Amino acid sequence: MAKPVYVLNGPNLNMLGLREPEIYGRDTLADVQRRAEAHARGLTLTIDFRQSNHEGELVGWIQEARDKASGIVLNAGALTHTSVALLDALAAAELPAVEVHLSNVFKRESFRHHSYISPAVVGVICGFGVNSYLLALSALADIVGEKGRAGGSGSGRMV
Ligand code: DQA
Repeated sequence: MAKPVYVLNGPNLNMLGLREPEIYGRDTLADVQRRAEAHARGLTLTIDFRQSNHEGELVGWIQEARDKASGIVLNAGALTHTSVALLDALAAAELPAVEVHLSNVFKRESFRHHSYISPAVVGVICGFGVNSYLLALSALADIVGEKGRAGGSGSGRMV
């Protein structure tokens, strides 16, 4: 059995649908999970979708991913802009990871322009709402697929 991609969500993402809908939209986190699972099926990936309001729990899940996952999609919420612990956990995981944000953080307050975790990920996708997660899964499917086909020359296909 291929290992799942861990799709990890940080603080306040359990409030999606209710929380600042003009920024984050009306979809709930359960809607995001359903759409991510459907998209992953089309990519022949399995995902393990989780949310926590606690930094330490997210660190634990990233540590667990090192052995149990093939890659990580991470929306760290506000911890993106504060957490050296998540940066260190991602570096230690030695897995392909994609940072995602529903909103375009660069259109928002300047404190959201800096991410502590970006140095430890393959790439960052922000501003596409729920589609940010789907684009991240497509990108990871390519990377994980390439690793599975050791020595492959690469299709260049991202979505
Ligand atoms: C977010 C952007 C962060 O700045 C914010 O703190 C969040 C959500 C996003 O998905 O757009 O909680 O990660």
